[in-house]
Amino acid sequence: MTLRIAVLASGRGSNLAALIDARRAGRLPVEFTLVASDKADAAALRHAEAHGIPTLALDPKSFATRREFDEALFANVAESGAQLVVLAGYMRIIDAAVTAVWTGRMINIHPSLLPKYRGLHTHRRVLEAGDPEHGASVHFVSAELDGGPVIAQARIDVRAGDTEDTLAERLLPREHRLLVACVDAIARGVVREGGGRVLFQGRAIPAPLQLDPTGHLTPA
Ligand code: GRF
Repeated sequence: MTLRIAVLASGRGSNLAALIDARRAGRLPVEFTLVASDKADAAALRHAEAHGIPTLALDPKSFATRREFDEALFANVAESGAQLVVLAGYMRIIDAAVTAVWTGRMINIHPSLLPKYRGLHTHRRVLEAGDPEHGASVHFVSAELDGGPVIAQARIDVRAGDTEDTLAERLLPREHRLLVACVDAIARGVVREGGGRVLFQGRAIPAPLQLDPTGHLTPA
């Protein structure tokens, strides 16, 4: 069983690269139907092209409204045959009319321990708050920014002397493993969305799954 996925990315594309690497190593049962971006110069698009994955760049400025842009983008996503959409560093808010259509079939990776620090500058906000730990979350996408049900999280300690850059650098490899583990769990039918909750092996989870040191998801 292979899950057909489309990936949306606005930038560097290291999370996309992690998915591609896992697929190539035989560790992720997916097929990439499309990599799409709102930025024509996104490195993620070049990376997809290098691996023979169909790509699409759409410029939001060519559309009158957010909804028209999102409808055009997701018409392409649907046409690609994708069963799951993965937002991997996709930096645009998606119109509620579109998120409603993809409920339970779209996930996002966000660099914080949600519900803490939705939105931007998460590393800075963790440092300003003096938090002892930081992390990343993968969640099903809802109309609310970074607000849908959280599937799983990866955690790191905040150390004395940490800066935004050191936190980002230490978290990124954990993000990659977390995203791969979540896509894998969805592809294998272990995780799905139901009634606004995350179901793990068919049961609603009371708290996000946690990424263990071996890269597996375990109940909290
Ligand atoms: C990651 O930190 C991700 O959590 C956030 O944007 C960054 C994207 O990095 N949403 P990349 O483009 O996947 O390298």
